[in-house]
Amino acid sequence: MTENILEVKNLKTYFYAPDGLIKAVDGVGFNIKEKEVFGLVGESGSGKTLTALSILKLINPPGKIVEGEILFNGIDLLHMYEEDLRGIRGSRISIVFQEPSTAFNPVFTIGYQIMEAIVAHQKLDTRKARELSLEYLNRVHIPEPKKVFYDYPHQLSGGTKQRALIAMALVNLPEIVILDEPTTALDVTIQAQILDLLDEIIEKENVSILFISHDVGIIARMCDRVGVMYKGRLIEMGETAEILNNPKKSYTISLLESVKALL
Ligand SMILES: Nc1ncnc2c1ncn2[C@@H]1O[C@H](COP(=O)(O)OP(=O)(O)OP(=O)(O)O)[C@@H](O)[C@H]1O
Ligand SMILES: [Mg+2]
Repeated sequence: MTENILEVKNLKTYFYAPDGLIKAVDGVGFNIKEKEVFGLVGESGSGKTLTALSILKLINPPGKIVEGEILFNGIDLLHMYEEDLRGIRGSRISIVFQEPSTAFNPVFTIGYQIMEAIVAHQKLDTRKARELSLEYLNRVHIPEPKKVFYDYPHQLSGGTKQRALIAMALVNLPEIVILDEPTTALDVTIQAQILDLLDEIIEKENVSILFISHDVGIIARMCDRVGVMYKGRLIEMGETAEILNNPKKSYTISLLESVKALL
């Protein structure tokens, strides 16, 4: 039996907003196995991003993780010292954030930022870190990696920026990569190219993936298993083919009907 690399148990992340309590994530639980691609699908506002951010304890007030366990290789991340968690974030568990435009700092070059991610977690000198950055820009098939290395984020196209973010997420050999809507901000042709790249990464790299998307067609293509989120809860979960071909809950059925043309 394959080991669970991540176990999320009864996760609750609430917002204490001025006009009342918002239960953004309300008792979510799922496991991800080694080399597995687990999907979270659901409409906007269902709690997908906040589930991902909770895994890395990146929730800021007025939001708060009020209950649950996040077991990474059996160790509870929610009760770990912040300093230890910093050693895991961006290295053993990395994330490609939903908003590509805000993921890079606009005032530093791409190369500088990837190198910074490397030296935060690996004991490498500047020359080695530069070589590794370029190797990863190559690995995600950026056409002119040496040029892109010295570019600022605003100089890159959406597709190239997303490739660079994926490179940065892989550069410290993570065990888990969280991809939050990795193609949503891109136009359709570029989306297809990024999905091809992700296919290649899933095949070649030894990583588990949490793949978040509101797009059932993309989930069908990428994920081994999927959980359907609705209003902060996981309402259905299982093998992707089983969930998509034989949905039990009326919400899943209506979600599928809206994209039937794709299936
Ligand atoms: N800063 C905040 N203050 C109050 N409520 C918030 C805040 N951020 C998120 N929420 C609440 O959490 C809910 C879930 O948000 P989340 O970003 O996880 O949704 P999502 O499923 O990722 O949606 P999308 O598909 O649009 O990215 C939102 O509907 C909102 O009610
Ligand atoms: Mg989101």
